This record gives sequence, structure tokens and C-alpha cells, in this order.
Amino acid sequence: MDVVNVFDYERLAAAKLAPSAWDYYQSGADDEVTLGANRAAFARIWLRPRFMRDVGQIEMATTVLGTPVSMPILVAPTALHGLAHPDGECATAPAVGAEGTLMIVSDSASRCMEDIAAVATGPLWYQLYAADRETTEAHVRRATEAGYRAIVLTVDAPRWGRKERALRSDFDQPPQVIYGNYASTETKRAIMPLTWEVFDWLRTLTPVPFLLKGILTAEDAELAVAHGAAGIVVSNHGGRQLDSAIPSIVALPEIVAAVGDRCAVYMDGGIRRGTDVLKALALGAQAVLVGRPILWGLAAAGPAGVQSVLALLRDEFAQALALAGCATLADITPALLRMGF
Ligand SMILES: Cc1cc2nc3c(=O)[nH]c(=O)nc-3n(C[C@H](O)[C@H](O)[C@H](O)COP(=O)(O)O)c2cc1C
Repeated sequence: MDVVNVFDYERLAAAKLAPSAWDYYQSGADDEVTLGANRAAFARIWLRPRFMRDVGQIEMATTVLGTPVSMPILVAPTALHGLAHPDGECATAPAVGAEGTLMIVSDSASRCMEDIAAVATGPLWYQLYAADRETTEAHVRRATEAGYRAIVLTVDAPRWGRKERALRSDFDQPPQVIYGNYASTETKRAIMPLTWEVFDWLRTLTPVPFLLKGILTAEDAELAVAHGAAGIVVSNHGGRQLDSAIPSIVALPEIVAAVGDRCAVYMDGGIRRGTDVLKALALGAQAVLVGRPILWGLAAAGPAGVQSVLALLRDEFAQALALAGCATLADITPALLRMGF
């Protein structure tokens, strides 16, 4: 068997992608301490399985901000799918829809948001960066018009992280791979200072709900709720921004405790196994997002690879639920966990 887990797609993608594209996808900032810690932290969380329960039928369908999804596993926004497949995000989106889940389309996608929406078969959210004021406003309006159901504003990028692996391999966009939502690379490079006032202004532009992605503290989570965020994505950008930032799974509990049921909480960073999903949900996330594995699937096997990655995670999550004694998501409680050594 060639493929038994998502790491097999990592190996296949490494063999297939141009080295500089591979480095761009894989790299984290600086020493990649956070990148490694995102994964390592999961290994310090132990499961306390319960037995003698009927787990013959596993039910994992749920809703995210009112939108039904087949499982609490969503697709994180990642830039430039065109490096992995000639159709870029237009190859990814229908594959995600076919698995019944939701894709967050990156503002830095290689295809424009309207083209992606036109071929999508499932629900979409739009991830927004703070570019210059006019471009950012235009992106909010276009995403609303194109039917994106929420806007995910990424807050952790007042500057771009230094991805040294990508710098060393001289990552250079091939000319056919462009930023599909931007008129030019110059427009793409502008970053307006993102403050709570800017967020208040952005919210006036659309009736569509906003989530804030990249929140890592209870203090910012409290402010997010106060400023009307419908959801938070606890994330350190897959270790690509502030190196030594706290692993997302370690930050999750204080944010869940701070916001309670006042807004939805999701997380990403290092989700590679069904047991990772179970741990994140037991710590209070309502769903998780998956970043790099989707790119690995796309690079290795196109849309079928994306579907296969999602199917592997779904099957592993069902396995984890059953073996831990949970038949439904409601059965997942903090009592499943023992933190430590
Ligand atoms: C190649 C790559 C590109 C990314 N591009 C974006 C982006 O455009 N916008 C964004 O908010 N996050 C971006 N991220 C971060 C992801 O949304 C997500 O937070 C992270 O990948 C999750 O970690 P994981 O890759 O370990 O699953 C990117 C991540 C990677 C690996």
C-alpha cells in the first residue's frame, strides 16, 4: 500500500514538487521552533479512553457558524495552490466539497476568488489580509458578492515572517503562478496597519460574519468578542510568522476559557492525525483546520489527493472516537485528557 496516512502524501509531494516550491510550502519562520512545537505538543497530551460503550455508529457531522459540514475538519487558507497544480485552488475547492467540508480560500490564492467560487461544490469562507485600504475594502465586497459565507481576517501578519528555508532556496514565483486576487505583486506587498479600529471599519462593509485568525492569547480573544468577531481561529500560521510563538494547541485552553460560548473557537497547526482532532475538540475547539497536508495531497495526486487526505483524516478521527469510547462529538469532554510528561 502506497498511502496509509497523510505523511505518505508529504513524501510523495516532496518527490514531485520543484525544490523551491517545496521549501516555500514546508518552511516555518527562523529556527522553526514553533513549527516543530505545533506537532510535538500533541504528543504531550494523553487520552483516557473509556470502554464498554456502544461505538458501532460514529456520528461526526456538525455545523460551523451555522453551515453544515460532514466533519469538524476544515481546510485552512494556504497561498498559491498553483505551485502544486496547474488549476490551483480551482482543483482544490471541488475536492473539498466532495468530502462535504468547508474550504477557507486564501487572499493569496493563485486563482481569483470568483473563479474558485464558480467551481466550488461546498461552502467557502474567504481569508483576508490587510493590504492597502482600497484593495482590502474591494476584497471584502468581492467576497461578499461571490457568496463567501464568512471572512477570516488574519491578524498575525503585520510583517511577513522570515522563512529561511524558502529564502535559501531562492523561492521565486514561476511567471504562470500569480496572486489571482491582486492587480499586481506591488499591490500584494502593501500591508496597512491592522488595528481594532480597522476591524470595526471592515465589519461595516459587509453583513457577512468575521472570524479572526491568529489569536493566541485570552487578552486578544476577549477583545475579539468585544469587537464583534463571530469566531476565532487559534493559530500561529503554521509556525510561519513569530518563531517561538506558543503552539496553537497549548494556547487553545485559555482562549476557550476566555470566550466561553460568546463566539466559535477553531484551531490549526500540526493537525496530522485523527487523534490530534480528538485532542483539539476535547480542549474546546469546535473544529480544526488542516494546512500543509492539503497541499501535499494536491501536489501528489491532484483533486483525488486532496479528497484522499480528507478521507484519511476522517477515517482516523472515526477510529480515534471509537477507540476512546465516543460515538458522537457530544461525547468528547475534557475528561478524555491527561496533560503532561
Ligand atoms: C504554504 C502555506 C501558505 C499559507 N498561506 C496562508 C495564507 O495565505 N493566509 C493565512 O491566513 N494563512 C496561511 N497559512 C497558514 C495556514 O492557514 C494554517 O494556519 C497553517 O498552515 C496550519 O498549520 P499546518 O500547516 O501545520 O496544518 C499558510 C500556510 C502554509 C503552509
